[in-house]
Amino acid sequence: MHIHKFEKIWLIVGSMTLVLFLFIIGINAFAMGHTPPSEDEILDPQKVDVTEPFDQPGLKKIGEKEYELVMIAQAFTFESNEDLKIPSGATVHFKVTSKDVVHGFQIPRTNVNMMITPGHVNTITHTFDKPGQFLILCNEYCGVGHQAMGVPLEVIE
Ligand code: CUA
Repeated sequence: MHIHKFEKIWLIVGSMTLVLFLFIIGINAFAMGHTPPSEDEILDPQKVDVTEPFDQPGLKKIGEKEYELVMIAQAFTFESNEDLKIPSGATVHFKVTSKDVVHGFQIPRTNVNMMITPGHVNTITHTFDKPGQFLILCNEYCGVGHQAMGVPLEVIE
């Protein structure tokens, strides 16, 4: 069978590109460990209430202007212990899991945006530089109450 010269060239270029991309992905995923962060810590979604730190959800001060916020997502709320108020300049380490289905976790006007998968500890960190009213909301369709799934977060002076 005759293959045209240009066809041959393009086949070679195409195969080389594929090999190069797979190589880059491989380096990223395995050598540099860029796997989804939620894979790091797993837990039994049936036992969320008795598994640390979710047995005591809520806001904890862990340092000077540093907080940990542990939340449990479930249809159709984000469970924590109290009203969420933090001072301006505070860094918050969010630790979130789900008791039921996949939920979203987004805070508009920030880079906080992650998927909350049951059975995983989903983490993200954000520093709130300015005071203001924020809303933690679910951006992953999860049922009839999805659009009402959100809790306020206040950053005070
Ligand atoms: Cu939870 Cu949508």
